[in-house]
Amino acid sequence: MAKIALGVTSSVSIYKACEILRGFQKAGHEVQAVMTRNAARLVSPLLFSSLSGRKAIVDMFADDLPWSVAHVALAKEIGLLVVAPATANIIAKFARGIADDFLSTFYLAVEGPVLIAPAMNAAMFLHPKTQANVRELRSRGVEFVEPGRGYLACGDEGVGRLAEPGEIVARGLELLRRSESLRGRTVLVTAGPTREPLDPVRFLSNRSSGKMGYEMAREAIARGARVVLVTGPVAIFPPAKAEVVRVETAAEMEAAVLREFPQADFVVMAAAVADFRFAAPAGRKIKKPDLPDSLALVRTPDILKSLGGRKTTQYLVGFAAETENLRENALAKVKAKNLDFMVANDVAAEGVGFDSDDNQALLIDAAGAAAPTAKMSKRELSREIWDAIEKAHARRR
Ligand SMILES: Cc1cc2nc3c(=O)[nH]c(=O)nc-3n(C[C@H](O)[C@H](O)[C@H](O)COP(=O)(O)O)c2cc1C
Repeated sequence: MAKIALGVTSSVSIYKACEILRGFQKAGHEVQAVMTRNAARLVSPLLFSSLSGRKAIVDMFADDLPWSVAHVALAKEIGLLVVAPATANIIAKFARGIADDFLSTFYLAVEGPVLIAPAMNAAMFLHPKTQANVRELRSRGVEFVEPGRGYLACGDEGVGRLAEPGEIVARGLELLRRSESLRGRTVLVTAGPTREPLDPVRFLSNRSSGKMGYEMAREAIARGARVVLVTGPVAIFPPAKAEVVRVETAAEMEAAVLREFPQADFVVMAAAVADFRFAAPAGRKIKKPDLPDSLALVRTPDILKSLGGRKTTQYLVGFAAETENLRENALAKVKAKNLDFMVANDVAAEGVGFDSDDNQALLIDAAGAAAPTAKMSKRELSREIWDAIEKAHARRR
């Protein structure tokens, strides 16, 4: 049994929120209703309090809340936040990070899954501002139950009708299940580039931003896994609950990965390890006149390949950046390196891949089945990739 927060805002479809609350209860979960002040003007909070058996929260500064800092305490207790119905206003506030009442403040404190079911007039829903806000929230990992088409309370026909309560409950339950799907598993993720020094100030590296690997780590944490994140130097923050191991060179990354590998259930190698290092790095800065005309390079270890040779029960996922013949090249790597799963990126494509916020990939399992994804944020893509990994992993067993 989980605790679910049901955010209720001031849409005419507010009456359907009662059915949603009931649906979660029937599935065995506890529900805490959180209403906006405007929602409480449409319907008395007493209705939600009596249905849920717990006092509906409306006021941020009420002195009868059961916690001292209620928005933070409640955020830690719940497994899911569902906002249904969600007004254009609350979607805009969430997208901007405005925290001027209990629900919007609470949203910022929630680290777990968030599901939003919008309900509004078609013109409001299709307004470019609302659409941009929905896109923004999606790219940050919030999920939506699309509103339906039909007769709207305002008398118009069109898109904006709150999705059916049964559909909202089903999606909510799916999100809850997913938040536990890697519980008890240890996931090792590598991310970012490596830096191969020539001397203390110069190095050889690549354009990896680390974003894809960090999102893979974030999503594994969201599914309940223990995550060890071995990361090269990047300019982004790791997910709060990751156990972070910072490395610089390919050799350091290899050592860290080999140390963590035996304990791992899943290994996700998203780092862009430099292929070469300088043959003779200097301990002090080499003065320009002393630099030779050419510098000798030697190959760095192929970490992925060596894991492929060592694996016992680990499920090994590789990332490949290709500029041509994506499927053939990626499949060849799956075979050559004894991988279980491969995420292949076309890094020559516009607006995706290295250093970009968006990505698009071809997901390939060990049997060679390949599924292309749409272009989406790396946050959203990490979810698709983990869904596919979990499915392929279940088939393997
Ligand atoms: C009867 C009535 C019905 C409304 N229905 C909706 C609606 O379905 N969707 C919406 O976005 N706004 C709707 N509004 C407007 C919102 O209530 C208004 O934007 C309000 O400021 C939102 O506050 P909240 O998001 O804090 O609940 C409605 C207003 C009224 C008076």
